[in-house]
Amino acid sequence: MTTLNHRIVLASRPQGGISPANFRLEAVEIAPPGPGEVLVRTRFLSLDPYMRMRMNDAKSYAAPQNLDEVMVGGTVGEVVASNHPNFAPGDAVAGGGGWQEFFTADARALRKVDRALPLEAYLGPAGGPGLTAWHGVYNIIEPKAGETILVSAAAGAVGSVVGQLAKAGGARAIGVAGGPDKCRHVVDDLGFDACVDYKSKSFAADLARAVPNGIDGIFENVGGTVMDTAMRHLNPFSRIALCGLVSGGYNADPMPIADATILLTQRVLLKGFILSDHLDIFPRARADLAARVASGQLKWHRTVAHGIANAPAAFIGMLGGANLGKQLVDLG
Ligand SMILES: NC(=O)c1ccc[n+]([C@@H]2O[C@H](COP(=O)([O-])OP(=O)(O)OC[C@H]3O[C@@H](n4cnc5c(N)ncnc54)[C@H](OP(=O)(O)O)[C@@H]3O)[C@@H](O)[C@H]2O)c1
Repeated sequence: MTTLNHRIVLASRPQGGISPANFRLEAVEIAPPGPGEVLVRTRFLSLDPYMRMRMNDAKSYAAPQNLDEVMVGGTVGEVVASNHPNFAPGDAVAGGGGWQEFFTADARALRKVDRALPLEAYLGPAGGPGLTAWHGVYNIIEPKAGETILVSAAAGAVGSVVGQLAKAGGARAIGVAGGPDKCRHVVDDLGFDACVDYKSKSFAADLARAVPNGIDGIFENVGGTVMDTAMRHLNPFSRIALCGLVSGGYNADPMPIADATILLTQRVLLKGFILSDHLDIFPRARADLAARVASGQLKWHRTVAHGIANAPAAFIGMLGGANLGKQLVDLG
């Protein structure tokens, strides 16, 4: 095969802010699949905030990304060649191909996906972001009809699903997002009851107006001021699903909570979680999410960059809020 594989490797670790210089584009020959392996051509690469954490050489729930190795990442694509009886050329598969156009993988690390949905849905509402929302909503917050559930980064891949699941169960869904356009999208397109712009000077007052009966559940994606402001409205016996802290930039600095007294006086359940600890939910949650996407009940939006060379800029943009919905890279 003469086609080259273009890929992005981690060239250096960010010192404070992330920059395009932390990445390097390479072109290498495509290796044929070994015994039990499958060669996949990636169609879509998922860009996710966790990748920023992996770029640090710091203790976390997963090992750091190695320097000079292909950036990790979830992908969907098509089988090109297979040395495993369960996969044939043309099969659509989800896997962890990373930031590159082609990859070989042990067949056990790949999952066939149904072309009934657009392939990229398996990186969005029917994939990791959807599963993350599903776990936090149903296994931690457990919203009851009539309760008020707030989610930050509400216009993003995870947050957009959280509010829709809460709303489908009869709760009031309140989003927090950056800017009036994102807030309009959250209410008009995704069907949330309200959305509050955290970039507005009147954020604290706007949030208070949006939750007249207090907050029974917070799905926290952001941390910092947004989380502290929302926590002031927590009702007794409320729940916080602590999913992410992206406002700190994931640059290894500590992320304090302003007032832990609220946790005590309101008898709040605060539970951090990492999706990969909850593989047991995947079969049921995947089936539920795929059915909701297929029926149109679960609305989703994607922001798509084109070509592997544009992945670093799209990633840095997503961390700064340039995305609406799921940030993807179309590798053609
Ligand atoms: N625990 C887990 O297993 C798990 C799994 C998946 C994802 N996550 C976490 O879930 C969160 C959302 O992930 P995602 O993939 O759905 O990303 P996303 O929401 O699609 O994109 C990230 C969003 O973060 C928001 N943001 C960035 N800087 C911010 C700041 N300083 N203050 C407030 N908001 C800020 C931006 O939205 P605005 O324009 O609205 O600011 C941006 O669009 C992240 O924290 C991620 O790490 C956790």
